[in-house]
Amino acid sequence: MTSTLPPSDRAHARIPERTLRKDRWWIGPLFTTLGLAAFVAYATARVFQQDHYWVEEYHYLTPFYSPCLSAGCAPGSAAFGSTPWEFPWFIPYAAISLPLLLLFRVTCYYYRKAYYRSIWQAPTACAVREPHASYTGETRPLMLGQNLHRYFFYAAAIITVINAYDATLAMFHGAEGGFGIGVGNLVLWGNVVLLAAYTFGCHSCRHAMGGRLASFSAHPVRYWLWTKVSWLNARHMLFAWITLGTLALTDLYVALVASGVLTDLRIFN
Ligand code: FES
Repeated sequence: MTSTLPPSDRAHARIPERTLRKDRWWIGPLFTTLGLAAFVAYATARVFQQDHYWVEEYHYLTPFYSPCLSAGCAPGSAAFGSTPWEFPWFIPYAAISLPLLLLFRVTCYYYRKAYYRSIWQAPTACAVREPHASYTGETRPLMLGQNLHRYFFYAAAIITVINAYDATLAMFHGAEGGFGIGVGNLVLWGNVVLLAAYTFGCHSCRHAMGGRLASFSAHPVRYWLWTKVSWLNARHMLFAWITLGTLALTDLYVALVASGVLTDLRIFN
């Protein structure tokens, strides 16, 4: 039913309080802000540190530096080759993958919900008055870029494969030069599996698998893939947070081994 109220009256409830809610509605936005800020601070510091990202002995490369593209990358760490020149300090060694991954996460449907509510406060929570005078949604030029998410998905899928390649390479650089498995290998693979669970649970991936089909029965493979992606998609928020944690922990583990603070425990060779 169409409201007959003028737009100014439709926008907000006409009460002096910001909200009548009595529960702790602010806890969710607060912890979301703290969690995102902690990850951004850690990742920014590590990306620009340009040190302790590579364990030459076992070929452990942190995902924050993969693929490493600068001539300044440690010998052996640039599995796909490097530029003839060194990057200045303000350009990450993973100069292509990091911006794409950042755009993939920033435009993710879950993260949009998270930072629209907690940081932009548009709205902060159900039945809580937002501080903005008007609501423009995603209709303005910068916000229209959110629609590029489907393309960032394909970039992120390729980068996930690159991370899997890094983890595979590391398994063939054991302590004696051949096949080997240490705790670092398990950490790298754990990160890859969870990243894949987040990336392939993307709404764009789900649409790519099962969208625009008139009948699933005529496309049994796509239907099967769609059901698997749908399972991941239903847990997308969970994997969004888990992978922020596992990315940081994987990087931290590589940094600690690379800097000599930790010794990688070897399970085999
Ligand atoms: Fe979250 Fe695509 S919707 S990664």
